[in-house]
Amino acid sequence: MKNGDEVPENQESRITGPIRTEVIIVNPLHPDDRLLLPAALALRHGELAAFPTETVYGLGANALDRQAVARIFVVKGRPQDNPLIVHLADLDHLTELVDHLPSLAAELFAAFSPGPLTLVLPRSKRIPDQVTAGLDTVAIRLPSHPVARRLIQLAGVPLAAPSANRSGRPSPTRAWHVSQDLEGLIPFIVDGGACQFGLESTVVDVTGKIPVILRPGSITASDIRRVAGCVAGAGAENLSGHSAEMPDYNPENEDQVPRAPGMKYRHYAPQARVVLAQASGLTARLAEMKSLLAAWQRQPAKIGIFACRNLISELPGRQADARDEMLAIKPTPAPPAEKRETDTPDYYCFSYGDEPDPETAANALFHAMRSLDKLGVAVILAEGLPDEGLGAAYMNRLRKAAGSQEQDRKSED
Ligand code: TXA
Ligand code: MG
Repeated sequence: MKNGDEVPENQESRITGPIRTEVIIVNPLHPDDRLLLPAALALRHGELAAFPTETVYGLGANALDRQAVARIFVVKGRPQDNPLIVHLADLDHLTELVDHLPSLAAELFAAFSPGPLTLVLPRSKRIPDQVTAGLDTVAIRLPSHPVARRLIQLAGVPLAAPSANRSGRPSPTRAWHVSQDLEGLIPFIVDGGACQFGLESTVVDVTGKIPVILRPGSITASDIRRVAGCVAGAGAENLSGHSAEMPDYNPENEDQVPRAPGMKYRHYAPQARVVLAQASGLTARLAEMKSLLAAWQRQPAKIGIFACRNLISELPGRQADARDEMLAIKPTPAPPAEKRETDTPDYYCFSYGDEPDPETAANALFHAMRSLDKLGVAVILAEGLPDEGLGAAYMNRLRKAAGSQEQDRKSED
């Protein structure tokens, strides 16, 4: 086994054949209770169900049911030492799940919840070890998505939920992404359409004096600093003056730096290789993208590009829009052979918006990766963006997609 990400044999053998997966389509803003109830009751009684949140789709289980939680790890092929986030509809039951609520946590929850923020807190004994991977902390999040909130309320239990992908794959931001990975493995997928943010929540450790960002997300380092007065960790490096405000914090000191266990694993990787064009400034990035494209066109490789429209429109050659191609994949019959020859594009483009913009890029990233994979591209040339604000979260995922593959290639050599 190359990395801790693959399913250990004893776990794989516990997956008992395919089961019927019911996809429940709901109105994302006003979900009908009658449609949600079967999934909610199943969750309460120890089954798994995938559901939309404002960040990505989650794979839920009753957080107080250790067997249900254990099943999440089996279905995802998730390493046992990677703890789960517990999702609540409101703060009412929080006291049962945490040892105490630090004042810093109360301030951050008040400012950003419900929403894409996860806080790592001192755990209570009620939380099974399976959820926390044996750590003395528990990660808590109050999602803002109406479907997630209502499902938790109807289930009447807190939901432990990682992203609803097989371990190592891009997080799902559409119900079909979940089906791709988990069809036949779970009884319910609640389909609430596309997720609003498209990247996982910001994870912040609030067990010490200083909030430490373990995983960057849509709530940025400067958002956290605005409320807490200081911040450290992922995405905080580029904030001016942060170290001066934190005389006790030394990022060089390993013992002082908490980490999200999950961040060490291979992540977010599509099947295609990911290569970044990350020169700063659109003109320089365009030049970099052009030379990458020229180099890859010398290979017999199907190429995908993920970038803003302004960049894509300046690239040479015959382009095909990945979204249009996706629509054409299924029912339409294959075109005649001669037509296919002349129509073959030089590469497939997935644009996230007109201008370079981390918010729209982050929103489309995982969807683009899965869509381009479906078109069978061998490489995705992706536009890098400045590492500030939400750009830190976008670049964190993009580098992992590119870098984890570099590591795999090295270990294969
Ligand atoms: O947006 C999200 O956070 C999504 C949706 C479904 O809520 N969930 C999600 O879960 O991304 P997951 O399991 O894919 O990522 C959870 C991250 C992992 O990196 C994990 O190591 C970290 O949170 N984490 C969980 N509990 C922790 C703890 N007690 N201490 C440190 N890190 C923790
Ligand atoms: Mg995940």
